[in-house]
Amino acid sequence: MMSNKVSRRQFLSYTLMGVGGFMASGMLMPMVRFAVDPVLQQSGGGDFIPTPQKVDELTEVPVRVDFTIKDREDAWYKSDVSNTAWVYKDGDNVIALSPVCKHLGCTVNWGGDEKHPDQFFCPCHAGRYLKNGDNVKGTPPLGPLDEFDVKVEGGYVYLGATKPNTLV
Ligand code: FES
Repeated sequence: MMSNKVSRRQFLSYTLMGVGGFMASGMLMPMVRFAVDPVLQQSGGGDFIPTPQKVDELTEVPVRVDFTIKDREDAWYKSDVSNTAWVYKDGDNVIALSPVCKHLGCTVNWGGDEKHPDQFFCPCHAGRYLKNGDNVKGTPPLGPLDEFDVKVEGGYVYLGATKPNTLV
């Protein structure tokens, strides 16, 4: 009887240790990923994603470029993620801006407001931005649009991570 009790207690404590260990690893892994990821990204110089946009076909008027980030790994699953940028040429430079409005995150369109054809327009609350992404004062957004890192390879535009706007 006694030995039965002990072994049951042992069984219980092993089980608890097992569950605790499993939970700890579940909590630890994302933390390790968070700690390691930025380092890896920086040392690798960041990942650039190919887009279907030819550099030759760009002008000074921003065009919408859709691209797909393949197999983006989340904490739990892999999936393809669609993304969009507004891309134009400024002299020899290729500029790519994030379409995510800095007010509440809607998607901005170039020339979306008839009265301001040379600006980005956010239809949600009539936010506006200049071509370089600078937010027009007096409209809801309080900061400029983010900018993508850009690389040109084989005549095509490649986009990297977004960063705070460097143009305004
Ligand atoms: S979300 Fe763009 S103006 Fe409000």
